[in-house]
Amino acid sequence: MSPIIAEAVIVVGASLVGLSAALCLASHNVPTIVLEKHAGISKHPRAIGFTPRTMEIFHSVGIENNDPAPDDFKLERAHVESVTGKWHSSSSWSDTDKQNNEDGMSYLQKEKSPKKEYSAARGYANPQDKLEPILEARALELGADVRRQHTLLNVEQDENGVTATVRDSQGVQIQIKGSYLIAADGNRSTVRELLQIARHGRGFMQNIQSVLFRAPLQQWTKGIVQFDIDQPSLKAFLASYSDGRWALMFKDDIERDDEALRAAIYQAIGTTSFPLEIITTANWELTALVADTFQSGRIFLAGDAAHTLPPNRGGYGANTGIHDVHNLAWKLAAVLSGQSSAELLDTYDAERRPVALLRHDQIFVRADYKVHLPTAMPAGEKIDDNAMEFGQIYISNGIIGSSESLPQAMKPDEWKGQPGTHLPHFWVEMDGGCQSSLDLVGSKSWTLLFASGEWEDAACRVNETSSIPLKGVQVGQSAQVVPPNDFSALFGVSENGCVLVRPDGYIAWRLAGLPSDCPQVLDDILCQVAFRVGDYAN
Ligand SMILES: Cc1cc2nc3c(=O)[nH]c(=O)nc-3n(C[C@H](O)[C@H](O)[C@H](O)COP(=O)(O)OP(=O)(O)OC[C@H]3O[C@@H](n4cnc5c(N)ncnc54)[C@H](O)[C@@H]3O)c2cc1C
Ligand SMILES: *[C@@H]1O[C@H](CO)[C@@H](O)[C@H](O)[C@H]1NC(C)=O
Ligand SMILES: *[C@@H]1O[C@H](CO)[C@@H](O)[C@H](O)[C@H]1NC(C)=O
Repeated sequence: MSPIIAEAVIVVGASLVGLSAALCLASHNVPTIVLEKHAGISKHPRAIGFTPRTMEIFHSVGIENNDPAPDDFKLERAHVESVTGKWHSSSSWSDTDKQNNEDGMSYLQKEKSPKKEYSAARGYANPQDKLEPILEARALELGADVRRQHTLLNVEQDENGVTATVRDSQGVQIQIKGSYLIAADGNRSTVRELLQIARHGRGFMQNIQSVLFRAPLQQWTKGIVQFDIDQPSLKAFLASYSDGRWALMFKDDIERDDEALRAAIYQAIGTTSFPLEIITTANWELTALVADTFQSGRIFLAGDAAHTLPPNRGGYGANTGIHDVHNLAWKLAAVLSGQSSAELLDTYDAERRPVALLRHDQIFVRADYKVHLPTAMPAGEKIDDNAMEFGQIYISNGIIGSSESLPQAMKPDEWKGQPGTHLPHFWVEMDGGCQSSLDLVGSKSWTLLFASGEWEDAACRVNETSSIPLKGVQVGQSAQVVPPNDFSALFGVSENGCVLVRPDGYIAWRLAGLPSDCPQVLDDILCQVAFRVGDYAN
């Protein structure tokens, strides 16, 4: 009796990364089962800042920022004695541009011209406990099956699929079969430990105690959302969740009871004359570790399970994990639908692990974590924040023309269409309106961008004869590049050249000029970079 191959992808963990995985998979019509051990959502939000790249991904699955930050909103941090006391660095918090350039990324800040724009999307400030229900509702709407109070106990795999042993909400052990499994089960990943995948990196730095409370502090905060509290007897970090809730995170190791917590909060604010409600406390570890591999057969690690990075102003934590699953979802969809061979899946580790490793290293050359840089570790060069957010390059068998000899990250306008980098954002006039170049490319198809009509025909023919959907877009016809940009300069090809973009928006290949047989060249390339199964060409 041959086993029935269940094709559902199993996702372990229904936090930011697991739910994002479910969203991306379901948007590709992949049956998805999410297993989450908790009944509800964690009371203590952690992440609040979501980057423009993350918002581009959310936009592609139907989630918008309906509550954009006001035009004058600035993510600023003040170094103070207490919130109502002496403000030490009043110059740096008002001199935003300088501060952001020096200290980290201003991804929540509205960039105004003449500054370069790298995305049509804006950063999004929404506490994790409010965003997760939005992600979950959309994932359910797209058909994902989210099962709470389901704890993964064990996982086995063979050439046909994976089998998860799960304790369900009744306490009964059940088995769930699937085709592949994504472990989005956080920094203490059960799956990673079962697979005995080791981690390396800076490691444990310190224990952090934090207290979440509600208090009307805006009367004193001058719109600032983060404070470094610096007193001889209190060193702490105060962060706003922008909804009346604040977290005070202590840099010391002192155990505090309720009374001591209240006293510390009053000390940080510098007054007791406000109503204070303590919501909850949390204990977490400042840790930086990256798994030695992100793949074991049919099982993939994503998010904190793959890389636990301490909270920093680049938002490398949750955002990196969301980008992981976006990279993986279309590949699983292509393999499960029979378009691509399973080799495509090997590009996940090849593409995403170096991203995590570079982010790990970049954290320690930035102001907040410099103190934690071990003396034995050489301090690397600080890479530009926009290069880290929009320009980390992929090198894998799914990309033609990227190599180790290139820098690991540059700004999109410096890459100029380099294969392995994401399609740069530029404005195009289309359908009577102004849109981002990202709206030109399909999220469920491959896209060929070109300026010269010869490619139109080739794209059509290859699309018709191949199992892989390919959309051709002639730039300069229905979509006009808004000057001073132009096609050749944007992509580093001639007017006769073309650029092949994957469903995740990454450039897989480009050609500088016109070959003698466009359809054949294009067909061969697609076989290679999409790992197309079978030969559908005539
Ligand atoms: C104080 C703080 C502030 C932060 N701020 C930011 C920020 O502003 N921006 C940012 O990008 N990142 C931030 N981070 C990091 C961010 O919180 C994490 O990167 C993110 O939550 C990781 O998401 P995840 O889904 O990978 O894992 P987790 O959020 O850890 O979720 C894992 C999930 O898996 C479930 N699970 C675990 N084991 C099992 C099992 N065996 N069976 C079933 N389910 C299981 C858990 O219950 C949990 O729901 C911050 C972190 C901290 C601590
Ligand atoms: C790791 O996970 C545990 C439990 O899930 C949590 O208590 C701890 O804060 C996490 N550490 C980090 C660095 O996120
Ligand atoms: C690609 O081909 C399919 C049929 O195989 C067709 O439905 C689709 O419209 C084509 N796409 C383009 C962009 O031509």
